[in-house]
Amino acid sequence: MELIVQTGNDYPIYFRPSYADLREIFKKKGFLDRKICIVTDSNVAPLYLSEVKIALGEIPSFIFEAGEGQKHMGTLQKMYTCFLENKLDRRSIIVALGGGVTGDLAGFAAATFMRGVDFVQLPTSLLAQVDASVGGKTAIDFENIKNLVGAFHQPKLVYINLSTLNTLPKQEFISGMGEVVKHGLIGDKAYYQFLRDHCQAIQDMDADVILQVIAGSCQIKAAIVAQDEKENGLREILNFGHCVGHAVESLSKYALPHGQCVSIGMYTALQLSVELGNITQDEMNHAISLMKAFDLPMTTTDYKSEEILAAMYKDKKTINDTLRVVLLKKIGEAYTNSTLSSESILKSLKKELE
Ligand SMILES: NC(=O)c1ccc[n+]([C@@H]2O[C@H](COP(=O)([O-])OP(=O)(O)OC[C@H]3O[C@@H](n4cnc5c(N)ncnc54)[C@H](O)[C@@H]3O)[C@@H](O)[C@H]2O)c1
Ligand SMILES: [Zn+2]
Repeated sequence: MELIVQTGNDYPIYFRPSYADLREIFKKKGFLDRKICIVTDSNVAPLYLSEVKIALGEIPSFIFEAGEGQKHMGTLQKMYTCFLENKLDRRSIIVALGGGVTGDLAGFAAATFMRGVDFVQLPTSLLAQVDASVGGKTAIDFENIKNLVGAFHQPKLVYINLSTLNTLPKQEFISGMGEVVKHGLIGDKAYYQFLRDHCQAIQDMDADVILQVIAGSCQIKAAIVAQDEKENGLREILNFGHCVGHAVESLSKYALPHGQCVSIGMYTALQLSVELGNITQDEMNHAISLMKAFDLPMTTTDYKSEEILAAMYKDKKTINDTLRVVLLKKIGEAYTNSTLSSESILKSLKKELE
């Protein structure tokens, strides 16, 4: 199965059960005639690096210690050194093999090395497969602010080997489901209903259902990105749950996975959407039961609401001290609200799960 992402330069997303035709695809694109360097992390390398190297040939690789804590300038610097040592040039291709951290780091390195070289995404976490590998956002964190320094740099192709999910830790699978539920809530009521109807099959990792979940999420994200590649408007709705989510994530010093932070943020955003009369209490309860079914957290007792609110003001999305919070207009449709008072956000943050 394949899907085309329509941006300035269209690119395909391949959905596959293995890396069986990776070499063939690289060959067809002419990539095998160019220098390639793989970027991956210390968890993914022992699992998949040799398989990818067998497919693509004996090529250099850069391995960094896994974790969001490594998404910083220091790692980037070591990566540039590795590229230089391996004599990468302007025609070279960087391959990101791993989760969203690998994709964001390798993508930003590709966007900046020699003013930009091509890159390919081989996402291995659910979160990267349904979200981070599609859309061309790349970044590193700086001064404990998420994704502060980055660039838009679309990949040349995305190749999703679905079988990599078999080794993904449970907490990381749950994290990916946070973005999956987000896509349903903001982008497509039918997809949201599909998730509600297939909760058990998703938990049982039914291969066919998982393929539909991942392809469906990519489709929703690709459609939004196609309309607003550089986030001048519509694309902002992809930040549903992220205003609070990023605040919790930075307070936890990145100990809590990204998708769990997003689901805490979605709970606040759902409540605000009910308060404004955009969705009904019943609709919110359905969303809550879906998140519960996937073990997604919705509240945290680790931080005071006031602390979370203060961290929200530090997020890069806060413009002129005005919080921009993405809310639901209805199930399957979102918008940005920049008129909410701090008090109403605080009230929602304090709300406990019933
Ligand atoms: N660029 C974007 O559009 C975008 C969108 C959403 C999130 N993000 C970013 O993505 C990051 C989160 O991504 P993530 O959750 O994938 O984090 P991650 O890359 O740290 O991966 C999570 C963990 O799973 C491990 N892992 C990955 N694949 C595995 C596999 N197949 N088997 C075993 N272990 C595996 C990793 O080593 C890591 O320990 C955040 O930095 C977030 O800001 C970016
Ligand atoms: Zn996210």
